[in-house]
Amino acid sequence: MSDGLDLAGRVALVTGASGGIGGAICRRLAGNVAGIAVAYGSNAEPAEALAAEIVSGGGTARAFGSDMAAPDAPERLIDDVEAALGPVDILVANHGLARQARYEDVDAAIFDHTLAVNLRSPFLLARRALPGMRERGFGRVLFISSVAAFRGGVIGPDYACSKAGLHGLAHFLARRVAADGVTVNVLAPGFVETAMLPGDPQQLAKTTPVGRVGRPEEVADLALAILRNGYVTSQVFSIDGGTYPR
Ligand SMILES: NC(=O)c1ccc[n+]([C@@H]2O[C@H](COP(=O)([O-])OP(=O)(O)OC[C@H]3O[C@@H](n4cnc5c(N)ncnc54)[C@H](OP(=O)(O)O)[C@@H]3O)[C@@H](O)[C@H]2O)c1
Repeated sequence: MSDGLDLAGRVALVTGASGGIGGAICRRLAGNVAGIAVAYGSNAEPAEALAAEIVSGGGTARAFGSDMAAPDAPERLIDDVEAALGPVDILVANHGLARQARYEDVDAAIFDHTLAVNLRSPFLLARRALPGMRERGFGRVLFISSVAAFRGGVIGPDYACSKAGLHGLAHFLARRVAADGVTVNVLAPGFVETAMLPGDPQQLAKTTPVGRVGRPEEVADLALAILRNGYVTSQVFSIDGGTYPR
């Protein structure tokens, strides 16, 4: 009998799945859900390869390409996923743009572009997905922010603001959909060994109490626990090796 914690029969959309953390979340979801939309921005090859890997393991998956900077892209992505795989029950808005820059060099166009990709598009994805989730009485939304939302971080002011904005967005949405079986949460990683790591892992490890950078699989493991649980909502979970206790 189900303990109410399983995701069997659900369709998941994971953005940024051509990257390290998104790829790990897809692999962790495979076998636990009915279908996975492996969404990428411009790197089709790793997303196609990951979808093929999930299918060869007996799962259902398809890769979808979409530049989240375009205002209509989030809604179109969900339309395409739902046409191919069925209603999206689990949305993991994990994609992110991180351009390291001095604050003096971040102009209006750069700032707006980062906010469009990192903050506006997660909102538009959620806005499109939430009505169906509420109607079906089940839904999971998970945003991936960053320890930079708390500390400022080392990427740039646009990045830090975009990630902090996801926290407010989750709190705003969560209480409006909670009674319909839909949770909205945030995972805030510290340094994780992916293409986005802003420096040498050995050096970054020295600033991390655990003494190493995190692994994408560790982020994915916590993501699955949050996605399975219907009584956790409006929370921001740090996974940062002890970098920012709060
Ligand atoms: N690694 C870290 O240390 C760290 C720390 C804190 C937070 N995070 C957050 O974790 C999330 C995953 O990052 P990661 O570490 O796995 O980095 P990653 O391997 O570089 O992956 C980034 C992903 O975001 C996608 N993306 C970027 N711009 C996009 C756009 N305009 N439209 C659609 N997709 C776009 C990329 O797709 P394409 O390559 O296909 O374009 C890629 O799949 C991000 O939100 C990041 O900010 C990472």
